[in-house]
Amino acid sequence: MSQSPSDTASANTPLLDGATDPLTAQRIVVLDFGSQYAQLIARRVRDQSVYCQILRHDITADRIAELNPKGIILSGGPASVYEDGAPRCDPELFKLGIPVLGICYGMQLACAALGGEVANTTSREYGRAACAVSNSGELFADMPAEIDVWMSHGDQISSVADAFETLAATPTCPHAAIRHRDLPVFGIQFHPEVTHTPLGGKLLENFVIGVCECEPTWKLGDFADAVIQSVREQVGDRGVICGLSGGVDSSVVAALLYKAIGPQLSCILIDNGLLRKNEQQLVIDEFSNHFKADLHVVDAEDRFLASLAGVTEPQEKRRRIGHDFIDCFKAEAEKIDDAHFLAQGTLYPDVIESGADPDGPAATIKLHHNVGGLPEELGFELIEPLRDLFKDEVRRLGLELGLPESLVWRHPFPGPGLAVRCLGEVTRDKLVVLRQADAIVVEEIEKAGLYRETSQSFAVLLPVQSVGVMGDARTYENAIAIRSVDTSDFMTADWSHLPYELLGRMSSRIINEVKGVNRVCYDISSKPPATIEWE
Ligand code: XMP
Repeated sequence: MSQSPSDTASANTPLLDGATDPLTAQRIVVLDFGSQYAQLIARRVRDQSVYCQILRHDITADRIAELNPKGIILSGGPASVYEDGAPRCDPELFKLGIPVLGICYGMQLACAALGGEVANTTSREYGRAACAVSNSGELFADMPAEIDVWMSHGDQISSVADAFETLAATPTCPHAAIRHRDLPVFGIQFHPEVTHTPLGGKLLENFVIGVCECEPTWKLGDFADAVIQSVREQVGDRGVICGLSGGVDSSVVAALLYKAIGPQLSCILIDNGLLRKNEQQLVIDEFSNHFKADLHVVDAEDRFLASLAGVTEPQEKRRRIGHDFIDCFKAEAEKIDDAHFLAQGTLYPDVIESGADPDGPAATIKLHHNVGGLPEELGFELIEPLRDLFKDEVRRLGLELGLPESLVWRHPFPGPGLAVRCLGEVTRDKLVVLRQADAIVVEEIEKAGLYRETSQSFAVLLPVQSVGVMGDARTYENAIAIRSVDTSDFMTADWSHLPYELLGRMSSRIINEVKGVNRVCYDISSKPPATIEWE
């Protein structure tokens, strides 16, 4: 468990080297100019079975040449190209001979760099537009003469230099798509990456496979094989510890590592008494019975509940849970001989958003939940086998590794667990009520076939009691709130428009089956201004 400076340095180095890495063979890079869609663009490219990486916008052309991508996509962004301080790219990149596709701001930037003019138009365009294609070569190959596109821009190109030809137009945007006559530089004013541009995937395919001539060979199975190989080389005969939470990321990491190093892997599950119904058993079934990994279950319910006794302030609850978690994890890890590495389920969006990749975009503000994570001071060298993957790729990988759908598609669960859904003081009795109500909510959502459609559905135990009547007797009991949200990124969310009949079934089951509850409400607040969790 000792840490040397070289250990720290290696923490962020990619796991794979050129020899074993199928990713280095062919890639598209996206230069991020602050677009809310940069990650979506990368996802869409990966849908073409081509690896895609997001880079900082001011990366030098020399560095891009070293990375040797087959194509470059310039993302959109909120700035105006002539604005002071507007993000720019190295103009030399247009001379590398690598195909470039500028999207929205990226198109305007390419156009300005190569002699066109961009103007702030009066006719801002947000929303759907009909785009008439006048040149159906390359970018628009095999597409109809008119396509629906999604526009979201203030500025647009007012005149293209002679060097460019116009490929498509909308009623208010005369240069909706352009290409350079001599260089392999293309631009589109609309957003092909969003689902509101129904043929956007085809357009990206035309660019990635057609123009850039990428071979669609990026496969998760190959990725898993390469990571497994690379982990074996990196780890040698030393031990790896992996914290399991019942969530998909840590489960996929553990399954991958188990395949790579079998008995050298030790998993730790801290049961803090704040887990969902049957959660501990689910993890034991999967990792002890199915994978036969060395699983340490730490039963720490008493300790966590003792430190939460009397505490009602949400931040203080989180703080105490965080401390206890680290202490418990550390104490258990110390019992494991030869543990040198700590495996973590860091995903590509975390890598991008934390600014950890030196070629990646600068750190952006992100909601950070510091509970459930482990501090660097623990002294392990990190292994992060999922740091190149998006969440849905992790799920697909989990299925390929043989994890059950019930685990792979589980809704996210916060590190502090049921404590942030048991408002006010957390007690053992309240947790019993909450756990039962929560299980009913999830069961009914599943039965209605809505588990995969909703992003997170759960119960919250409110710190209020209200009057009711059961049989002939007056009751004075607890209230449960049902929370169910739809979201793609968990940064914003809408409440799920669940059918009344389903809400009715949940309500009557909770009131009938959970002793101590006489009222059920449905939370119809979006995020923002509300958050998904109640505390
Ligand atoms: P909020 O409540 O901030 O939650 O809208 C957004 C997403 O993050 C999860 N969440 C957490 N996850 N530790 C975690 O690992 C935490 O402390 C934490 N707090 C919230 C929440 O469940 C939702 O998916």
